[in-house]
Amino acid sequence: MSVSSNGSILIVDDNQRNLAALEGMLKDVGRNLVLANSGEQALRHVLKNDFAVILLDARMPGVDGFETAKLIRERPRSRHTPIIFLTGAYEDLPSMFRGYEVGAVDYIIKPLVPEVLKSKIAVFIDLFEKNAVLTREITERKQIEEELRESKENLRALAARLQSVVEEERTRISREIHDELGQALTGLKMDLTWLTTRLPKDQKVLRSKTKSIFELIDGTIQSVRRIASGLRPEVLDEVGLAAAIGWQARDFQKRTGIRCKVRLPAESIVLDRDRSTAAFRIFQELLTNVVRHANATAVDVDLKVGKSELVLEVSDNGKGIAEDKLKSSQSLGLLGMRERASLLGGKVEITKTGGKGTRALVSIPLRLN
Ligand SMILES: Nc1ncnc2c1ncn2[C@@H]1O[C@H](COP(=O)(O)OP(=O)(O)OP(=O)(O)O)[C@@H](O)[C@H]1O
Ligand SMILES: [Mg+2]
Repeated sequence: MSVSSNGSILIVDDNQRNLAALEGMLKDVGRNLVLANSGEQALRHVLKNDFAVILLDARMPGVDGFETAKLIRERPRSRHTPIIFLTGAYEDLPSMFRGYEVGAVDYIIKPLVPEVLKSKIAVFIDLFEKNAVLTREITERKQIEEELRESKENLRALAARLQSVVEEERTRISREIHDELGQALTGLKMDLTWLTTRLPKDQKVLRSKTKSIFELIDGTIQSVRRIASGLRPEVLDEVGLAAAIGWQARDFQKRTGIRCKVRLPAESIVLDRDRSTAAFRIFQELLTNVVRHANATAVDVDLKVGKSELVLEVSDNGKGIAEDKLKSSQSLGLLGMRERASLLGGKVEITKTGGKGTRALVSIPLRLN
């Protein structure tokens, strides 16, 4: 629908000669002119078309101009269409007011001066076109917004799906490594024990060799455990989030030498797998950041579970996170944590604590509302 095919001008006058005269005056404004010789006919037109402006004779037999204007205003399609009343010079002030009351935007007093009429009409046509452009822009913008919203939702769903696939895969690999390799290694150890007991006491070289194989097997068993729980700690599934956080903190302290103090809730907490996994992964990411960036000597961890939400606070005494990193789209680790929490209706707030380090506050509601 092009702008100029719409936005015609409707001319309403009961007098055929007046109609013809108006048509003549306006034939070169470049608009389609629609003529009506009664209020009823005018109303039929406004039901079907959008007009840029309506020229309306005030005095007509039957439904007069005032009544017609009122009815035009009542129709949703023409609620805002500008109406210019055409009146005789003899018209009095009260009837002019009446015209404005029923929705006129302007008056032109007969006899008409073509230049005045044309310049007034031009203003309304211009307005109509600008309006059409604006309406189109708004529609386009709304459509773009809708598309953006949809694609954001899709991305979210995709991210959630990917995360759960990764987590399932990790759990599976972790179990397999733990069970199969673990069992094979235990078997090896038993066989080696069997062998050792049958080695003559004087076979010193062989005995020392078996000793070092024992050590190797033990070391490998440790590695298997470490790799398996690195993928997904058993405690998370077996004893739950609080125990897993305690375990992770101890392991962190042992590996990095950064003191890690943990406060856990006294009562055991019951959480679904999605929530405990999310909180645990966020916790791991926060600890990784501490080692990599904070230059801290201590970390305090506080896990609380209230009636409606789970709150995990992790603060370090390092150099403090730089302000620009907090909002940067390059901070994928931070984005990942926030996304993870927000999938469950929660949030991650990270702040620099007055030059004394960084504090992360993770809150996840226990139920999605
Ligand atoms: N505890 C912290 N103390 C000081 N700076 C931090 C801390 N945590 C994060 N930062 C800063 O914020 C930045 C963004 O962290 P983010 O976890 O998003 O990325 P990253 O750790 O550099 O990389 P990755 O994507 O592997 O996590 C870091 O590069 C670091 O400069
Ligand atoms: Mg990181």
